Amino acid sequence: MSEYIVEMRHITKYFPGITANDDVSIAIRKGEVYALLGENGAGKSTLMSMLFGMYEPDRGEILIDGRPVVFHSSNDAAALSIGMVHQHFTLVENYTVAENIVLGKEPVKRRFGLLPWVDMAQANQEINALSQKYGLAVNATDRIEDLPVSARQRVEILKMLYRRAEIMIFDEPTAVLTPQEIEALLKIIEDLRSDGKTIILITHKIREIKQTADRCAILRAGRLIDVRNVAETSIQEMADLMVGRRVSLETHKSPSSFGDTVLCVEHLTVKNEQRFDVVRDVSFSIRAGEIFAIAGVSGNGQTEIADAIAGLMNAAAGTIRLNGSDITRASIRERASSGVAYVPEDRQKTGVVLDFTLQENLSLRKYHRPPFSEHGVIHRDQVRKYAQTLIERYDIRSGQGPDTCVRSMSGGNQQKAIVGREIEEAAALIIFVQPTRGLDIGAIEHVQAHILKERDRGAAILLISLELDEIMALADTIGVIYRGELQTIAPADGMTANEVGRYMMGVKEA
Ligand SMILES: Nc1ncnc2c1ncn2[C@@H]1O[C@H](COP(=O)(O)OP(=O)(O)O)[C@@H](O)[C@H]1O
Ligand SMILES: [Mg+2]
Repeated sequence: MSEYIVEMRHITKYFPGITANDDVSIAIRKGEVYALLGENGAGKSTLMSMLFGMYEPDRGEILIDGRPVVFHSSNDAAALSIGMVHQHFTLVENYTVAENIVLGKEPVKRRFGLLPWVDMAQANQEINALSQKYGLAVNATDRIEDLPVSARQRVEILKMLYRRAEIMIFDEPTAVLTPQEIEALLKIIEDLRSDGKTIILITHKIREIKQTADRCAILRAGRLIDVRNVAETSIQEMADLMVGRRVSLETHKSPSSFGDTVLCVEHLTVKNEQRFDVVRDVSFSIRAGEIFAIAGVSGNGQTEIADAIAGLMNAAAGTIRLNGSDITRASIRERASSGVAYVPEDRQKTGVVLDFTLQENLSLRKYHRPPFSEHGVIHRDQVRKYAQTLIERYDIRSGQGPDTCVRSMSGGNQQKAIVGREIEEAAALIIFVQPTRGLDIGAIEHVQAHILKERDRGAAILLISLELDEIMALADTIGVIYRGELQTIAPADGMTANEVGRYMMGVKEA
């Protein structure tokens, strides 16, 4: 027996134009929780996809139990007891839990020695037994479409258990969960470890690593930076190793000082294309100098509230007032010119024009006004100068500066460009939907500081985020949305993350 159940030696993997893994070597002991920490794009998923047989390394070798292996597919990896829960689940919506689990690996009985058929009764039984043993709280006969995200994730865990996985890879499992669900998952992971399973936990959340992992490998830009014993390493050290410089983990928020009401939303109802009420009778207001954050699990109506205020969706009922004037029926452009800036969730669809250059995108809201244009003539030098200022101020990185085609920029830098452009409007109301999604820690720090600066300037800010940490760090007031309804509105310093989490799950008495 080898000391290590998994060894990856000198692994290099290229994708067109990028080295996703550069000579990475890791060795994992049986029965440990081994974390892979790194920012977006560091190469974590790529490394583990090779261990799960989805890609083959360009260089290097993989050993399981001390023996070299070559995987051509994830079936090869599964045959050696390796399982993986992906970032995006791979379940079939209208199948039951058990049908999903046995797909591709049915317990077969031979009928008259001819046709194989699936013994679903036996599968159901076995799956329910596993579910009970590990406290997974799912039923074999439940339909996937009826299950919330957290339960679907537990189905993926069941699938690994059913297939006798001993090495379990979790790719960013907590990204989609509420605080309570995260606690429950970490508990499950601990139980799996006590049962002798080897766990690989991919995450960029250091606190979870501190809580559950034995060791932690830190990846940056495709390279292995260090492997640490978690008990002997502080959160700050891990953050610094991950980013490659000293990072500040705290947001510095000055005491609030609210002015007059800027945005007033009353009894807002919004319908989706199927005429279903996605926002129901929502009322709230935001004062100058206030960050009003809406917390909630994805898909509970929060983005539709933002779209309705910015004018991208219609209000089916209710009123929206900005500085006292009714803008419920105003056009997008009218709202923009009366003081609404918007950083939307879908930046590629509504945030930027992909085939325009960076400088065109940055001046999108200004080019028709002096000093950028006069008498219908655009002053190119002004546009360029302005773009250069924003590129510096918001640390927007791109191949050819102002002339870069936005399509070729990374998602994170596109996001920084939109954030910069909207902030520069000095609007009365700024709506930020998921402003830091997909950004690395350094960039998150930067964008959050800008949001606080705008609040201190006296802007009213509507912040919609799925990251509860971000809401707790920035909000003055928190509204929690569940199934289109605001469950509660309260000052941020009067609520804990756990209380917010309970409202997010629709539990009213926190
Ligand atoms: N299938 C692919 N084709 C091309 N590039 C890819 C592919 N998968 C990942 N990459 C690139 O490889 C790098 C590492 O990505 P990934 O392993 O997903 O990082 P992480 O999981 O740490 O966020 C990134 O620059 C990413 O854009
Ligand atoms: Mg990944």
